[in-house]
Amino acid sequence: MSDSLQEAAVTEETDENRTRKNGLYGGVSTELAENMKQGWADTERRDLKPIAQTVHTARRRAALAARFPGELLVIPAGNPKVRANDTAYPFRPSSDYVYLTGDQSQDAVLVLGPGQDGAHEAAAYLLPRSDRESGEFWLDYHGELWDGRRNSLGENEQLLGLPCRDVRTLTERLAAATGPIRLLRGYDAHVDAALSDKVTAERDIEFRAALSGMRLVKDEFEIADLRRACQATVRGFEDVVRVLGTDTPTPERAIEGTFFMRARTEGNDVGYASVCAAGPHSTTLHWVRNDGEARPGDLLLLDAGVESRNLYTADVTRTLPVDGRFTSIQRKVYDAVYEAQSAGIAAVKPGAAYRDFHHAAQRVLAGHLAAWGLFGDRSVDEAYELGLHRRWTLTGTGHMLGLDVHDCAKARTELYVDGTLEAGMVLTVEPGLYFQSDDLTVPEEFRGIGIRIEDDILVTEAGHENLSAGLPRAADEVEAWMARLRS
Ligand code: GLY
Ligand code: MN
Ligand code: MN
Repeated sequence: MSDSLQEAAVTEETDENRTRKNGLYGGVSTELAENMKQGWADTERRDLKPIAQTVHTARRRAALAARFPGELLVIPAGNPKVRANDTAYPFRPSSDYVYLTGDQSQDAVLVLGPGQDGAHEAAAYLLPRSDRESGEFWLDYHGELWDGRRNSLGENEQLLGLPCRDVRTLTERLAAATGPIRLLRGYDAHVDAALSDKVTAERDIEFRAALSGMRLVKDEFEIADLRRACQATVRGFEDVVRVLGTDTPTPERAIEGTFFMRARTEGNDVGYASVCAAGPHSTTLHWVRNDGEARPGDLLLLDAGVESRNLYTADVTRTLPVDGRFTSIQRKVYDAVYEAQSAGIAAVKPGAAYRDFHHAAQRVLAGHLAAWGLFGDRSVDEAYELGLHRRWTLTGTGHMLGLDVHDCAKARTELYVDGTLEAGMVLTVEPGLYFQSDDLTVPEEFRGIGIRIEDDILVTEAGHENLSAGLPRAADEVEAWMARLRS
């Protein structure tokens, strides 16, 4: 990435904006600077079609604006995070910005402001094409010559179906704003600073909750995209089974890389760090170090999801016998989790309390734990009341899913965990049992076994649909599926 010309510009220009402001070219001859200004073709596109979700983004913006009449609403996409010096982590825009625009640009900001007639007008503030005249496009370290061509503002207007303005004029616009303002904080430090005297934490928390709550019920574009993410995820799990050695160990790193190949090829990325947890690692919920190995005879707990190119993610777990056959103790625990998950999925329907599927699954798990003698003399009801099962079940049974793996997490409690399921919601059902290797309260044969089964469930008018049903769940079906993929 580094280059002598760029280094000259960087070392001699301590303020990276200086080039842009005063036209100085540190370390570059005037002849070269003049030469670089000319001889470039006009590549402006005037024939672009709107992206597929413009109808939906317009409706979502209108719904948001209707909740905050007369207020200026500011939703940044966020900025890239520096990894070291001039390298950055891969950029991923804020989900609310994506939801309202369909755009994935860095440094962008959506503004919904009351216009002259009081109705909201939307504008996306974006970085325009790099200026050739000032040398910005090649001397600025984030010029297009280095980072790649950006869409012009006109091109973005065609694609996004809303007015687009230069983001470098935004500070001025915000400074001139006089009425009430709400800001999605924490994504763009410049915007946060520009508005620090004009917003309040309390009102911004309300705004964040409103945005999060709006995303609870998915529209048809979102459902179709989640369906595609699940289908690609199914293929990623199949890829993993094909590389799992039946005689030799397979590094967890290779499992992670295999799934990532599918995610990056078909989608944008993985939606969260893949958990590739073999053997006793399967009892660690957030095992993302993935530096062990999956040996024949072990279980592999694989929790992974493809994030689509529109940034919707699947979130799926299967616990697989590495050599293709469950041992009897592995199957005993697996069957208990399978029964619990089936009960949880059956409880997903419109009108049900959100918490119903959790209790349905957890009651089944508690029943098995009681039958295995793990509550001693206590009845299952008493143990459940006291929460004793949680030593081995560890987590809640699921969560909403969408642009974020833990979607809508900032929504008001009464709409989410204390709310009611509605058609169009998508949630995971993912009970598990986790017996730590050093847990002396369980028989030795249980120790080091961790099992979770996780599917992505759409609430429909009639009940539910399992979007990840392309993967088998029952133990026999898992074994048959693995055998088929390896034959
Ligand atoms: N993969 C994160 C979760 O299951 O919630
Ligand atoms: Mn999950
Ligand atoms: Mn998961």
